[in-house]
Amino acid sequence: MISAEPVSARLIEGLKRLEYRGYDSAGIATLEAGRIQRRRAPGKIAALEKLHKRKPLAGQTGIGHTRWATHGGPTKANAHPHATKNVAIVHNGIIENHRALREELAACGAHFESETDSEVIAHLITAELEADPVPARAFAAAIARLEGAFAIVAMIAEAPGLLLVARQGSPLAIALKGDEAFVGSDAIALEGLADQIIYLEDGDVGLVEPGHAQILDRDGALVSRSEQPLFCQGSVSKAGHAHYMLKEILEQPATTERTIAQYIDDKGNKIQMPDLDGVDIGADRAIIIGCGTAHYAGRIGEYWLEGIAGIAVETDIASEFHYRKAPNPTGGFGIFVSQSGETADTLAALKHAQGQGLKSLAIVNVPESTIWRTADARLPTQAGPEIGVASTKAFTAQLCALACLTVAAARKRKRLSSQEETRLVTALKEMPARLSEAISASSDLDAIAEDLATTRSVLFLGRGPYYPLALEAALKFKEITYIHAEAYAAGELKHGPIALIDKDMRIVVIAPHDQLFEKTLSNMQEVAARGGRIILISDAAGCAAAKDVAHHSIALPACDPFTAPIVYAAPAQMLAYLTACSLGVDVDQPRNLAKSVTVE
Ligand code: M6R
Repeated sequence: MISAEPVSARLIEGLKRLEYRGYDSAGIATLEAGRIQRRRAPGKIAALEKLHKRKPLAGQTGIGHTRWATHGGPTKANAHPHATKNVAIVHNGIIENHRALREELAACGAHFESETDSEVIAHLITAELEADPVPARAFAAAIARLEGAFAIVAMIAEAPGLLLVARQGSPLAIALKGDEAFVGSDAIALEGLADQIIYLEDGDVGLVEPGHAQILDRDGALVSRSEQPLFCQGSVSKAGHAHYMLKEILEQPATTERTIAQYIDDKGNKIQMPDLDGVDIGADRAIIIGCGTAHYAGRIGEYWLEGIAGIAVETDIASEFHYRKAPNPTGGFGIFVSQSGETADTLAALKHAQGQGLKSLAIVNVPESTIWRTADARLPTQAGPEIGVASTKAFTAQLCALACLTVAAARKRKRLSSQEETRLVTALKEMPARLSEAISASSDLDAIAEDLATTRSVLFLGRGPYYPLALEAALKFKEITYIHAEAYAAGELKHGPIALIDKDMRIVVIAPHDQLFEKTLSNMQEVAARGGRIILISDAAGCAAAKDVAHHSIALPACDPFTAPIVYAAPAQMLAYLTACSLGVDVDQPRNLAKSVTVE
């Protein structure tokens, strides 16, 4: 940040808006009378704020960072900004050749303070400044030696009022207003500071001064990157709730309704897709790629696209898809699912697929994010800012987009009569009301969560689309309760995992009373016979049929089988949330996690 006013307080405010990106340690550095001064603290930004209150920093040029540890633990020494006497830097990403650079720089006398890969950047710029004192040239020379992914902002002691920036694979944006200049790794950090934003492209190196920026592309040519309105994601507040996660679970009837509404035509009985820019959703084959929750949304979408639209779908985790050299589906299309639109694995997989000529559709929540801008076409979700690390409302919004896409693809492939489309659209329109009922379905949830909090391991089971939903439920549960949880297709239980069942094991079964219910009921009986305690999430008919085997039942409203997987997500989220609360875990910022993972 560059201003005529002291910047430290606003730097800390910006870091708070970015805290969802990492919260292991945080720091700021400013230039005070030509000297780099730093304040850094392990832990959350509150710890940095406390330190800064005791020992405030002056200075009108400054940088700040909140870290998600990759190389080196969450200590003060490893916290950014990293600095030499004359250069301070903040870095997102991973410098893959940091060991070689470190050895080289250390051999020339550089003294390293941290275990991070990032610190080499500060030493490298210092070394280049010795060879060429012009900051922009020395910075560009240093950047040219880096391998890996990075978004870097550097500040040079002798050059107040100047920030040097570089982007390769990790997001970075500049905002200019009057005689101030701001740089952020995310638009959300810049909200309220400026009205326009400039996104850097991969390979860009830039020089930022008050009210002015100069950007060179990877070939060193001066380029003009367009300014666009800074999309305001809205206020980030808990709105009176104990946690963002709870607020976000409760928002789902509204966020799913908004997501679906944008894909329904004016008459209200047909799905209409936006311009898909050459992505042929009538194709025979598709792949769906994402990470974590977004991947599980894709796996539920797989059941829909195969069963309703007759498209042969393959789903994969982005980090595996990228490197397993799978041939692209000829004439098919790719669907890349991401809340943040910045997940490095998903972005790398998208670029890999595009490199092989696959047309790609992104289902993304954050407009103008990198995946949003990189894909050939996009289907927005309307979840709004999701702050809790555990994804909830983004998941159900992703399901809504996939469900709408399924209907549109089925129509295009002539797999759907007009009446059938109307039925599916009606089911979609009615779903938010069912979701609202499901959120408050069971008054026993607190008691069930208290019981789950006493266990060391929980199994989640489901069949059909409820299998990937069980995977998502287990992910939600383990990431915020720290209790081991895993999911199996109910039919797979007898092929191994049944060995785990004893009287201490809790088994959450997600199974509406559909055509597969009887088979799942048999699996429940196998569990009950071995003393396992079953928590059944079903509808009234399912709960009645399983009353002799289930220890607890959560009865959801009857809903259309098409949209039921969206509705059934809610109690699974609530169980994870309430169990974490009863254990006293920091629900919104569970240990070791970051909301948006911008490293591979
Ligand atoms: O932003 P993305 O949707 O691409 O993030 C993908 C995963 O990192 C994310 O869903 C993660 O699994 C969540 N913590 C799950 O709650």
